[in-house]
Amino acid sequence: MTRLISGSVIETEERTCEVHGAYTAKKLCFGSREIWSGCKECLENEDKERMQAVDERRKKASMDGLLHRAAIPLRFQGCTLDNYRVDATNPKQQRALDFAREYAASFDEAVRSGRSMIFLGRTGTGKTHLSTAIANDIIRRGYTALFTSVMEAVLTVRETYRRDAEKKEREAIAAFTRPDLLILDEVGTQYGTDSERLIIYEILNARYQIRRPVLLIGNARIVEMQQAIGDRALDRIRSNGGIAVPFDWNSYRTRVGIEDLDTANAVAH
Ligand SMILES: Nc1ncnc2c1ncn2[C@@H]1O[C@H](COP(=O)(O)OP(=O)(O)OP(=O)(O)O)[C@@H](O)[C@H]1O
Ligand SMILES: [Mg+2]
Ligand SMILES: [Zn+2]
Repeated sequence: MTRLISGSVIETEERTCEVHGAYTAKKLCFGSREIWSGCKECLENEDKERMQAVDERRKKASMDGLLHRAAIPLRFQGCTLDNYRVDATNPKQQRALDFAREYAASFDEAVRSGRSMIFLGRTGTGKTHLSTAIANDIIRRGYTALFTSVMEAVLTVRETYRRDAEKKEREAIAAFTRPDLLILDEVGTQYGTDSERLIIYEILNARYQIRRPVLLIGNARIVEMQQAIGDRALDRIRSNGGIAVPFDWNSYRTRVGIEDLDTANAVAH
């Protein structure tokens, strides 16, 4: 990867590179300009670094593309299993993190068996955080994931009912079936109408038939989740080894709020 310098050599001189020692520097002439060549090894290293930087940028761009296609909301794009903090006095929170870790780590198995998972519990406890952390983790390992709220999924499918719709219903359902992992957030947040339940059932059933796992998330209790998505859909998830992980501690949002206030006070003084 030596940089080619085309010009005529008009003079040489023994010089010393601080890093690589002695080398023969050449005075090159480009028309009216004269330039002394530097250490060949330094030049090669520079080239290598530049190539590596380009490579990394490319890799990062394609990873960003994958994360982008996973539709993870901006707020949760930085969520990882490692930056989920566990309060030492809260074994349930530790358990939730352990489940998330285990699920991501054994995703090879989960994607083959269709083993799903359910996060249920109070607001601000990090259900969405941990679910997107799982997505971020498995995407880095080459799997595909899609994050969507129930509302979004329902609207996407309903769009196709319009007469002038570009996409057919089948295609919309397929988009939710294709990813290795589908994260369905905010289940049971709104009152589930029959037509909503039917759409969710269609998506979950399509995935069930080809044994693809889902991660369901909701604030409701399991009975309410059952009402929101229908017993048949929930049955399919549970019969396939899907477990429900409870999140029933205080909101992290209010905790952060208090900390922010402390920082603000510290700055004010
Ligand atoms: N244990 C934690 N460690 C670090 N960040 C956390 C933790 N729990 C929650 N958070 C952060 O707090 C915010 C709220 O968490 P998140 O949105 O995941 O909660 P949620 O359980 O999905 O709430 P909701 O049910 O209201 O949707 C997020 O920004 C999340 O990253
Ligand atoms: Mg959430
Ligand atoms: Zn050198």
